[in-house]
Amino acid sequence: MRETNPNGMGNDVNDRIHAAWELVRSSAKLYSKGLETGINAGKGLEGEEIERLIFLGMGGSGIVGDIIRDMLAAPYTIPVHIFKDYSIPIKPRKDDLVIAVSYSGGTTETLTAFAQAHEAGCKLAAITSGGDLAKLAEKKGIPLATVSSGLQPRYAAPEMVSAAYGLLTHITQTRTEAKIMRDAIEELREYIEQFKKVNEGEAYEYAKSINNKIAVIYGHTHLFSTAYRLKAQLNENAKSQAFLAQLPEACHNEVEGWLMKTETAHIFLRSGYEPPIITSMVKWMTETLLSRGYTVKELRTEAKSHVAEIMKLVALIDFISISLAALRGADPLTLHLLPEVRKALQLNERLRQYALSSFAK
Ligand code: F6R
Repeated sequence: MRETNPNGMGNDVNDRIHAAWELVRSSAKLYSKGLETGINAGKGLEGEEIERLIFLGMGGSGIVGDIIRDMLAAPYTIPVHIFKDYSIPIKPRKDDLVIAVSYSGGTTETLTAFAQAHEAGCKLAAITSGGDLAKLAEKKGIPLATVSSGLQPRYAAPEMVSAAYGLLTHITQTRTEAKIMRDAIEELREYIEQFKKVNEGEAYEYAKSINNKIAVIYGHTHLFSTAYRLKAQLNENAKSQAFLAQLPEACHNEVEGWLMKTETAHIFLRSGYEPPIITSMVKWMTETLLSRGYTVKELRTEAKSHVAEIMKLVALIDFISISLAALRGADPLTLHLLPEVRKALQLNERLRQYALSSFAK
């Protein structure tokens, strides 16, 4: 019989929880590496004038576009779109910069939408650890940021985010500056120091307070991608259900559902740059939820920039999701149902081959 620790976990699960924890502890290093990769890869884009910025990608790679949009912070000087689908739902134009992000380099949705951008003559760039995306970028001379291989995509998100940021430092309209990211990485490095162990400290206490509850997460303005990261990490790492709502929109529907009593933990993403109207909205929501007997939590960090705030919150979220995995005896490095979906969708492979063949033209 397999030896178990006091939580009832097999040693291998325990080892994987610790490996996941250490990966998050190394995220400052991943951001640094990705930034330099992106800056180098993007040299060919120097001085390009673009009309719109479009990110393509799914899951742990798709969130890269969401995070970058939030790092650029409104008001944007150009439209920024993130599409997570088999096609681009607006007519692509040749002055669009379309960045495909796929850690494995083989995700069908990303490849088919990228093929559409290629056919439309858009300016292209790619971020991947290899696979078909790397091959076709090399063949077609598409600027390519190659990130470290051997990780699960969601654990490589920090490296892919900074690679995307690095690529964009060559595009004046995005107002991205390597210094902003480098300063944020330094802040993150210090912040991460306090997260020493999976089963003690802030992340563990937080995980305990939401354990066995369905998480309902509220994000707003530049913290919406961070809220989405929390949802996805609770799903994929802790094998736990989580749902997401956006402010102020949630005050126009969601709140009415609180009349039904559920075992939910309501989590608000808070920002040092929060608009006053959001602050008063969160205050009302918190008081109302508490008076109805719900668990209410918030997540916030002190940071010197929007970029640093997002990166520190992402690290905190990742740590919480792994602590929750530990409490639930879940393996945060193994996916069970996602691979099943891929197998079930046989048409995916045909679409993928079709997309790849369109690059051969
Ligand atoms: C796995 C994960 C998934 C993948 C997604 C797309 O860690 O988070 O959400 O990111 O299935 O695959 P890639 O990233 O290889 O394009």
